[in-house]
Amino acid sequence: MKELHIDLKIEFCSLEELSDSDRSLVETACTMTTTSYAPYSHFQVGAAIRLKDGQVFRGSNQENAVFPVGLCAERTAFFAASASAPQTPPVCIAIAAQSKGVFTAHPVTPCGACRQALLEAETRFHQPIRVLLYGTEGIYIVPSIKSLLPLTFDGSELA
Ligand code: THU
Repeated sequence: MKELHIDLKIEFCSLEELSDSDRSLVETACTMTTTSYAPYSHFQVGAAIRLKDGQVFRGSNQENAVFPVGLCAERTAFFAASASAPQTPPVCIAIAAQSKGVFTAHPVTPCGACRQALLEAETRFHQPIRVLLYGTEGIYIVPSIKSLLPLTFDGSELA
């Protein structure tokens, strides 16, 4: 039997070690947690997405009494970017979260639905989206969305 190996290299660093533009994106994601509407989970997520031309779009999770109607921070930011600059590839997304008012020690990673949504942009623009995941104990730097969603369904088999 043959084996398929999937490698993922995640870098781990402090806020101070990031470049100015990456640190600024992470700080924006942290700030965006304060705009979250999360009366049900009390889990406030912020996201900031940077496009190839340097524009930054922001999002936070928006919950609803009908739970599935709510939307994650990542898709809120990504759809805002895509609606405003549909032809400009996203190149980096930063995510931060507070649980009951305290930033998480360990990075929070995007849910499967957000990974799939962001994968669409990577596929469409042939451009990886770096992922910066904030935790108070350090930041994960993930090279692409595809690396977080191996064996992806990217629509290439659709007729
Ligand atoms: N949430 C996000 O916004 N992004 C994530 O990466 C994980 C989860 C939100 C959805 C919901 O409002 C709350 O966090 C609890 O799941």
